[in-house]
Amino acid sequence: MKRLLLILIPFILSAQEDFISHYEYGEMLYANPRGVSCAQCHGNSGEGRVIVSYKDVDGKQVLSGADIRKKSLKEMIYSVNSYHKVMPRYYLTDEEVKAIYDYLQIKNSHYLSKLQKNNTSK
Ligand code: HEC
Repeated sequence: MKRLLLILIPFILSAQEDFISHYEYGEMLYANPRGVSCAQCHGNSGEGRVIVSYKDVDGKQVLSGADIRKKSLKEMIYSVNSYHKVMPRYYLTDEEVKAIYDYLQIKNSHYLSKLQKNNTSK
């Protein structure tokens, strides 16, 4: 029995490593990037959303998270690592940001390929 376990352990461990795909890893990080979820401000697919709207002396104000679907990996790494007025700074490695980036690229592949087609026909 002990021997059988010793033989099986490497298989169990490597199975766990492959358990989540790169896409799922990115999806997980987008939702839970060791801090406030990106989705809270950038929507479920990075399309952007209204964070809050309020009234002040100048009238109605709307604070929204940007549409980040068209951002390059370089821009994303830069944004995540810098200080903004609204967006928090994150402590994610470049690989982690890349997983988020790849996740958004795949999730929005239909939207992005449509955009590309429209651009080339101009
Ligand atoms: C609290 C809301 C909030 C959260 C959470 C947040 N963002 Fe943002 N993000 C913003 C806002 C607002 C901007 C526009 C710049 C600013 O004023 O902060 C922005 C800008 C960006 C930009 C640059 C867009 C541009 O127009 O240049 C990228 C890329 C980005 N965010 C990615 C992310 C990713 C990835 C996460 C999660 C790791 C995240 N953001 C989490 C609110 C947020």
